[in-house]
Amino acid sequence: MSGQKINGYSSLQIALHWTVAALIFFQLLFGESMTTVVEAGEEGTPAPPTDLTLSVAHYWVGIAILCLVALRLILRIVQGAPESTSDTTWMTYAGKASHWLFYILLVAVPTTGLLAVYVSDEFGDIHKLAKPAFIVLIALHAAAALFHQFVLKDGTLRRMLVPAK
Ligand code: HEM
Ligand code: HEM
Repeated sequence: MSGQKINGYSSLQIALHWTVAALIFFQLLFGESMTTVVEAGEEGTPAPPTDLTLSVAHYWVGIAILCLVALRLILRIVQGAPESTSDTTWMTYAGKASHWLFYILLVAVPTTGLLAVYVSDEFGDIHKLAKPAFIVLIALHAAAALFHQFVLKDGTLRRMLVPAK
């Protein structure tokens, strides 16, 4: 990714990374309550109270993710990101590509959710692709982070846990 040359991530960048990750897991675990409520509305049947509560949480957690990611992108541009820990070209590009793909999903998924609510149901079908897309990317990303930390032993996971001085 472009950006200034710095030693590591700041404490705010680290806090935002793990907060957004936790909120994404919440959305993936409970997002189907929103689908249940939408379908109940279309069929004119009452939705279960738990799904109603979780659908309100889905709405607000999704908007919170969008705001936090906007802040994250601003920080990413202002503070930059550390150089890749990879010493092979393909790994460096795979890392950069996967990080940008995350940022694209982190903006596109809540946006299509908002469009599904306020513009047209058809955006709901695109929005639902969020689940498989995030699951594949998170699995690759977490596996790469653990491989770097424990096999290559280059401190990649550590720098997303301990802020740079
Ligand atoms: C990054 C944030 C978000 C993630 C990861 C996410 C994820 C999900 C998931 C996994 C589902 C269930 C899909 C299924 O049933 O297979 C869903 C459904 C839904 N979400 Fe989100 N969501 C996010 C943000 C939002 C926001 C901000 C809104 C609206 C303000 C929203 C509105 C909806 C709606 C309306 C549905 C039901 C779609 C339908 O049945 O057509 N989502 N979401
Ligand atoms: C929904 C879950 C997650 C999302 C959306 C996410 C997103 C991201 C993004 C966008 C970056 C790039 C930061 C930048 O340079 O601007 C990043 C970096 C990183 N993530 Fe995640 N992540 C998630 C979960 C995880 C998990 C579960 C782990 C660990 C197992 C992890 C470990 C890391 C590490 C170590 C880095 C730094 C990579 C480097 O310095 O080259 N992430 N993550």
